[in-house]
Amino acid sequence: MGFAFRKLVALIGLLSVLASAAPDADSAQAPAPAPKDACAAIGGKTWVAPKDVRACYQSVKLDPKIKSNVIEVVNKTLAFHSSVNYQIQAPAPFNNDVHEDLAGDLAKISHTNYDSEYDFHIAVSRMTKRLNDGHCVWVNACYDSMFVNYLPIPLSLLVDSRGKQDVYIAKEAFTVASAEFADGIDFWQNSLPGNLKGQLASLSGAKVLTINGEAPFNAVNANAAIAGSYQGLGTRQNGYFSSYQRSSGGWNYLLGNFAQQALPLDDQVTLTILRVNQTRTETVTIPYHSRIGASSIKFNDTTSWRSGNCLAQPDTNGFDAYSDSFSPTPAGTITPVQKYQQQPLIASSQKKHLVNVMLDDTPLTDVVLPPQLIPGLPVLDGSQRIVQFYMLDDGKTGVMALGSFSDGDYDTFLNNLVNGLVNLKKQGATRLIADVSNNGGGWICAAHYLHRVISGPKSTTEPQPGLDTKTRAGPLAKLIVKTASDGGDPQARLLYNPINWSNANNTRFGANENWLDPSVDITVNGKKDSFSQRLGQECTAADFPTPPPEEALFDGSQIAIVSNGRCASSCSLFSITLSKEEGAKTVVIGGKQDVQQQYCGTVGGQSTDFETIDSEIKTAQLKDHELAPPDLLVNGVLGITWRLGFGVENTQQPEEWQNHPADINLPITSDLANNPLAIWKAVADRVWN
Ligand SMILES: *[C@@H]1O[C@H](CO)[C@@H](O)[C@H](O)[C@H]1NC(C)=O
Ligand SMILES: *[C@@H]1O[C@H](CO)[C@@H](O)[C@H](O)[C@H]1NC(C)=O
Ligand SMILES: *[C@@H]1O[C@H](CO)[C@@H](O)[C@H](O)[C@H]1NC(C)=O
Ligand SMILES: *[C@@H]1O[C@H](CO)[C@@H](O)[C@H](O)[C@H]1NC(C)=O
Ligand SMILES: *[C@@H]1O[C@H](CO)[C@@H](O)[C@H](O)[C@H]1NC(C)=O
Repeated sequence: MGFAFRKLVALIGLLSVLASAAPDADSAQAPAPAPKDACAAIGGKTWVAPKDVRACYQSVKLDPKIKSNVIEVVNKTLAFHSSVNYQIQAPAPFNNDVHEDLAGDLAKISHTNYDSEYDFHIAVSRMTKRLNDGHCVWVNACYDSMFVNYLPIPLSLLVDSRGKQDVYIAKEAFTVASAEFADGIDFWQNSLPGNLKGQLASLSGAKVLTINGEAPFNAVNANAAIAGSYQGLGTRQNGYFSSYQRSSGGWNYLLGNFAQQALPLDDQVTLTILRVNQTRTETVTIPYHSRIGASSIKFNDTTSWRSGNCLAQPDTNGFDAYSDSFSPTPAGTITPVQKYQQQPLIASSQKKHLVNVMLDDTPLTDVVLPPQLIPGLPVLDGSQRIVQFYMLDDGKTGVMALGSFSDGDYDTFLNNLVNGLVNLKKQGATRLIADVSNNGGGWICAAHYLHRVISGPKSTTEPQPGLDTKTRAGPLAKLIVKTASDGGDPQARLLYNPINWSNANNTRFGANENWLDPSVDITVNGKKDSFSQRLGQECTAADFPTPPPEEALFDGSQIAIVSNGRCASSCSLFSITLSKEEGAKTVVIGGKQDVQQQYCGTVGGQSTDFETIDSEIKTAQLKDHELAPPDLLVNGVLGITWRLGFGVENTQQPEEWQNHPADINLPITSDLANNPLAIWKAVADRVWN
């Protein structure tokens, strides 16, 4: 979080308090005051009560023009989302998790009256979240993470010495909260009742017996029902708890959905806890507190909140890449969709590398992992930013901690991956732990390169180290390809340009080959749908800055892929190919013991978003077509799955809803919690000894 920025916000808050305290000389003659501006009450402040944020959000009525605009953009963009009909009813094991009828729900939403724009936003957001698909997400920066709702007591799910699993306040909770919320911790200290006042630190490590009077997992599951992002229930449960992640700047601490909400959903929580070394339980009520989002534009009142945060931004809508007025997004600009992608910021010069990446209504944060939990081993060659290499004390187990498949400069990143692994091997590593906790994906070809580098040249890696894919072939998509194959995209600026794709035999299409015609017409969940032919190899030698080694670096059986299950998109492509094709072991840390843990989720094949699709439509001169979505009027982002990967086991169906059961669910004791090095040692023991 920008400290200077927050200080500035605090200063503005102070000024506005002073301003409103100034005596009004004319008050005697003044007419009846205008109705209070609910947003002025929180304007300029850093920390506010969640109910005041809601009062501001709910004070804005839903303009019918906005409502129909959002619905039309979402509806018409979903024609490019490959999963729509599959998601009406997913097969086992996700039959209870994914059963969302987008068309039906959009129709319902359009016939419902909403008291406010905020309530409408929640309806659209929840509709996409019910897909449990981290690629297809609706975000509106007017509301999502405009303010972030916090508690200073992130939770852990731990087993005790007898193997009994319970919910605890993380033992590092106070260390993390007092560092991150230096300017907000007193509020919570003073909010504690009776003799606990000022004793927030003493809550760390407490066992949590009830949350709001009920068994803790009632609250965990209520969150899992609206959290979205992952098909597997276990994975969505895990998102409630604290966890760690390698980031491009260091080791991060994720507070989890209990302690951090993108919307002001809850005002307080009441817990029954048993503090460390106490014999009596206590009941405490702790308020949530909302902090202005790190990239929210500051405001004073409803008008300035709306103009700064709620209207379409320069890159909300697409552009015609051949228009005279088109200029590429300037370097350093953070586009609306980038803010919510779960990967480090990518320079615009790196945008040609296609991504498969999660979207979330909470941008990546930089809450830091406490120093005592940071791996205390020398970092080895190849370690830079998002990727770190280590050797465990046994001298045999190399570790690659990888927080994303995108980072900084593409060539440098891929070279670091190969250098780090070759060096581990040289140092004597015979086995490899890949820690991909909270890895939300990134560059597709980075995932494929890593598979090829680790496993050497063989039938599973050459020429196609990834999954074959297909994209949806709706009428407008077909017209875009027709435009390109008829010569309407001479400079290959379209994603749909034939020269960028290969057929199932891994042969590139010719520039004039209409690869979407004929389409493959099938019935999915009783609905007629159309897809492209099967697409093959996408990452060629030209996509790899350094040729991969001639021999395998690690045998599949000597690899353990470790995470909290929250490995998605390109991280799924990597984990699935290593596990299902090469026999790597998969380990999920900390999941609920009686729930089958998935080692990854949200597979996709390639993700994209409304702005990209709108650019394709505009570049192909099809914006006037009746199926083209209009420009979006609000500061919104809609992610979609543009391509779906085909399965490894069932090669005719998408991998997306096939099973990814973890081989091992590693129970987390207090000593292991959020301690990567201790976890790696336990994994090495469990997998190889
Ligand atoms: C979505 O688009 C389809 C096809 O154009 C149309 O039939 C349907 O009414 C639209 N749904 C909504 C809610 O606007
Ligand atoms: C709990 O008791 C143990 C044993 O007396 C002691 O080592 C530990 O510091 C105590 N912890 C707390 C938080 O009081
Ligand atoms: C806040 O209000 C002051 C005084 O009316 C005004 O000068 C300033 O521009 C406003 N700031 C924003 C962000 O609207
Ligand atoms: C398509 O291929 C061309 C030529 O190889 C390349 O310049 C362009 O970046 C590719 N576009 C996409 C979206 O992959
Ligand atoms: C791939 O090659 C096989 C064998 O030559 C051929 O029968 C098939 O039609 C080809 N498929 C495509 C999509 O070109």
